[in-house]
Amino acid sequence: MSIEDRVRPEVRAMVRPRHGGDVWGRLEVKDFSSNVNPLGPPERLGDYIAEAARDMENYPDDSCAELKEAISARYDVPSSSIIVGAGSAELIRLFPEVFVRPGDRVVMPRPTFSEYGFACRLMGADIVDLPLPESDRFRLDAGSMIEEMAPGTRSVYVCNPNNPTARMLARKEVMEVVSEAARRDIMVFLDETLLELSERDRDVSCVQEVEGHDNLFIIRSFTKSFAMPGIRAGYGFGNPGLIRFMDAARLSWNLGTLEQRVATRLMSEEQGHVRRAVNMLVDEKERMRGEIARITSSKVELTDSYFFFHHLDGLDLSSGQFREAMLRHNVLVRDCSSFGPPCHSYSRFCVKTREKDDEFLDALQLVVDETVGR
Ligand SMILES: Cc1ncc(COP(=O)(O)O)c(C=O)c1O
Repeated sequence: MSIEDRVRPEVRAMVRPRHGGDVWGRLEVKDFSSNVNPLGPPERLGDYIAEAARDMENYPDDSCAELKEAISARYDVPSSSIIVGAGSAELIRLFPEVFVRPGDRVVMPRPTFSEYGFACRLMGADIVDLPLPESDRFRLDAGSMIEEMAPGTRSVYVCNPNNPTARMLARKEVMEVVSEAARRDIMVFLDETLLELSERDRDVSCVQEVEGHDNLFIIRSFTKSFAMPGIRAGYGFGNPGLIRFMDAARLSWNLGTLEQRVATRLMSEEQGHVRRAVNMLVDEKERMRGEIARITSSKVELTDSYFFFHHLDGLDLSSGQFREAMLRHNVLVRDCSSFGPPCHSYSRFCVKTREKDDEFLDALQLVVDETVGR
């Protein structure tokens, strides 16, 4: 028997998901391809890491009690409704491991974050794509999602705001999906990792809804809010009954002592850092929109989030070609072709501080000049 024959069929067909942020070791490149806090990590992050590093000789607390208490205090949700993971990516993997059986229908918008489909495919799910209409700027409509909840559907996925399209649903619309899914015994996986850096977070978040809805699971992350993807820490909310099973199935010691201690300090002491970023972004994304429209001579809609999903029509470049062109000026943007058609004609890039954004805009101007002069 060959190795292929021994491998589960789902694994044999797997292709690893692609992501932005591929700047490793190239300090001269400014990364606009990953959507993290534009202010960077809090100043005291190094101190928190140094303090935590003094206690490496013991196993970490497998229950992550202190960290869960800090999250509980911040969100006013009991610890029994909280699970933590090595990045929210771990929780994206864990959810179908607990709830999805081979052959289950799982509905998700297209395009959306690739890790959902990856994790569900590994469990043998039958993925049903709900194409987001390009003509309506990829708006996800709660009604279309509900229409896709056919018999045999185990779960539906909502990313709010959606990666890569940056469109946001109101809380009322998300809860319409959750309530209708509950009537049909369907679970809802809601990704709010990109919401915390939005000024609409308080109005849109559904975290307070998990107590009353046992079919809802929500993820959030330290990665985006505190700009520290190098330390893997994310968290999730659900009804205690749901969290109990997810906790039973997770990897032991999934968060090291370093991650737990650092994340606890950030959650308890650095909320002001997140608020400063949110306040700064409100005006800066409007300025960026105006400047991008001026430089590219195109209409640019204001984004619902702190990143743009920008059509490259005026430039006559594919997403991959635009990435290469910007990289020649030391700016990295996300090549969106891995999200499938029509994303090969779009690029995703984030909003940062005025100073950093000016470097982005200079590079964009150079690319436009080079393209027009071809
Ligand atoms: C929408 C979305 N959800 C979840 C994640 C995973 O983030 P992390 O594992 O760093 O928490 C990402 C990372 O890019 C993302 O874009």
